[in-house]
Amino acid sequence: MNYNSKHLTNSPEGRDIASIIHPLTNLKSHLEKGPVIIDSGEGVWVTDIYGNKYIEGMSGLWCVSLGYGQERLVNAAANQMRKMPYYHLTNHKSHNPIINLAETLLNMAPVPMSKVWFANSGSEGNDSAARIVWYYWSATGKPQKRKIISHRQAYHGNTIASASLSGMYYNHASFGLPLEGFLHTTPPHHYRFAKPEEGEEEFATRLAGELETLIEKEGSDTIGAFFTEPIMGSGGVIVPPPTYYEKIQKILTKHDILLIADEVITGFGRTGNMFGTTTMGLNPDMIVCAKGLSSAYIPISALFVNDKIFEAISNESDRVGVFGLSFTYSGHPVSAAVASEALKIYEEEEIVEHVKRVTPVFQEGLRDLIDHPLVGEVRGVGLLAGVEFVKNKINHEPFSNELGVGAFCNQRAEEHGLIVRAIGDTISFCPPLIIDINEVEEMISRFRLALDDTWKQFKNISEH
Ligand SMILES: Cc1ncc(COP(=O)(O)O)c(C=O)c1O
Repeated sequence: MNYNSKHLTNSPEGRDIASIIHPLTNLKSHLEKGPVIIDSGEGVWVTDIYGNKYIEGMSGLWCVSLGYGQERLVNAAANQMRKMPYYHLTNHKSHNPIINLAETLLNMAPVPMSKVWFANSGSEGNDSAARIVWYYWSATGKPQKRKIISHRQAYHGNTIASASLSGMYYNHASFGLPLEGFLHTTPPHHYRFAKPEEGEEEFATRLAGELETLIEKEGSDTIGAFFTEPIMGSGGVIVPPPTYYEKIQKILTKHDILLIADEVITGFGRTGNMFGTTTMGLNPDMIVCAKGLSSAYIPISALFVNDKIFEAISNESDRVGVFGLSFTYSGHPVSAAVASEALKIYEEEEIVEHVKRVTPVFQEGLRDLIDHPLVGEVRGVGLLAGVEFVKNKINHEPFSNELGVGAFCNQRAEEHGLIVRAIGDTISFCPPLIIDINEVEEMISRFRLALDDTWKQFKNISEH
């Protein structure tokens, strides 16, 4: 790998260090470590400013689903910018790009949906969904149903409400979050949270029981909604056991609690169906999507709401005077044009079919790593996977956090030309959906090299 001196203030790295606050980064160690500066991309590959090439095993931040270099998306943006770069949707205004997009989305929704609300990011989508939950219960005469439940380790975003929905410690610590009324329940991760000898079915039953106990303790007349990622992404790629959602949906229905599916990662083919809602058998009242919607070429998110919700919120807006939720860039025409073009690409290039073809090579290739002495669990669905390292493969004991085993592997992978993401000691994979079989094999063989380097480094600590 080629690197320039990071600390020369006129080097690109030095200028970055001198000027930028980086998200989800240790700000202090960044001053020493500096950035890897990515300059260009093509397909599943990205290239840094020194010409080093990497397989983008994470589609950036789980988002560049159609890969780099999609000229159709570039042209869609340029054409729309030329024709009409901006218009808004407030005060009864509209424009064709957003009408076309909303219609297409409603036609492809995995369960019947009534209308679409647009925003700029997954966080804003979830934040809007939380606001709509409150508005809905005010509209239906139960304004005390304000509490919202989600999973610990969930990631729903980073506005104040969506960070409160998130269940990651680093979104809360030192920020004074979560806000009151945001409750968290055990993540449906059998490998990590099952009791000894507890099968998947019993585990799902126990978690559903825990949820019901929480609802009853708080009072079901105070609980408005349950948010879930069909498959949890940033919390470590957690695939709930088969009957988990069936069990918890019964409880939610019994206690009159809305269900919101956060499909920000799982939407648009990632799990081998167009939506994770279908893959996991969900029946949500609202669905949030973003990322793959425009393949991240431009910021946009969409929130589907069903008839029941729309009817209530439209009546309430009539009572209040206007629907008081608004962003300047809601339904931005350039974002809408790019998203519509992306949806055409998903359809015309049969991306879901492609994902189904590539999935076995990806999932089985990674599952073969279970024999490696570091690997405790390999999990995933479609083109989404996590490989978790453990100190002890028998009792699943993790390495201590301070060792930074996952971070070490992440770094070694980069040195072998592969970008992955360490979530603690789980290495996550979420490659562009257009990845071909050779590229999947290349990605896994580069990962194997990083895994072996990591083993060499930590084998003395492992209790293998
Ligand atoms: C499941 C999920 N929801 C919401 C978000 C937040 O989306 P954004 O970063 O676009 O605000 C993310 C981002 O990673 C996510 O993975």
